Amino acid sequence: VKLLGGVAEVRTALAPERMAGRVVGLVPTMGALHEGHLSLVRAAHEGSEVVVVSVFVNPLQFDAGEDLETYPRDLERDLSLLDAASVDVVFAPSEEEMYEPDRATSVRVAGISEVLEGLHRPGHFDGVATVVSKLFNIVTPDIAYFGQKDAQQVAVIKRMVKDLDFDVEVVVSPIVREPDGLAMSSRNAYLSRDQRREAAVLYRALSAGAERFRKLRDPAATEDAMRSEFHSFPAVGLDYAAVRDPDDFGRPRPGRPVLLAVAARLGNTRLIDNMILSDEET
Ligand code: PAF
Repeated sequence: VKLLGGVAEVRTALAPERMAGRVVGLVPTMGALHEGHLSLVRAAHEGSEVVVVSVFVNPLQFDAGEDLETYPRDLERDLSLLDAASVDVVFAPSEEEMYEPDRATSVRVAGISEVLEGLHRPGHFDGVATVVSKLFNIVTPDIAYFGQKDAQQVAVIKRMVKDLDFDVEVVVSPIVREPDGLAMSSRNAYLSRDQRREAAVLYRALSAGAERFRKLRDPAATEDAMRSEFHSFPAVGLDYAAVRDPDDFGRPRPGRPVLLAVAARLGNTRLIDNMILSDEET
């Protein structure tokens, strides 16, 4: 795998690929790679001829008081995983390479960025939209790969791509889960043994919500079903259990897919998870 840290270097390395007409795929990550990321790399190999993975813990998307300092970083381990996964280029810039001290521009996707995760993490999606715009401009991928685990991020990025005419196809891969249903996340590494056991409640809540929705088609009753799963886990702090339209994060509409989303705190660790019910199911 070719490890590059500079914007100019990436452009130089990819120029011949683009000249040769090869399809370039980008998997943006913050490192601390797990099976979920590797599933995105596999999807990239299926759809693209040159696979680029970015590894950058983006300070703009962390609030003051969030886990920017303690976010797991292990570039060497990430590189060996990416090398084994036959990735062509890893772009791992420094913070200085990405952000000039006098930078003045930020990308904001109104509406979608302001609900659910946006309420709990003000400014988070502006940070995501800004860094993803930069990565799209640096790598100019034909296809970019994201995980469905971050459902609201997916909606924000798709909207940004549409509104700003980025010439990139956004491909979304399904959530990869542990045997007990817990969605893979770099933040799972923070959980104590007891918390790790309790964390399975997020998936159980989604499953209970899905069952209720299929039966009653009622968003409020579905949210109740999700919430009640948390009652037996007083140590798990539920931030929200919500039923939304997966595209605009507004109210669910008949004949459209439906998104069930939960976010919860276990000690200092905040986890999110979601499930999409297809329009046939709804
Ligand atoms: O999903 C992530 O890991 C990050 O939000 C992303 C898309 C790499 C932007 O920093």
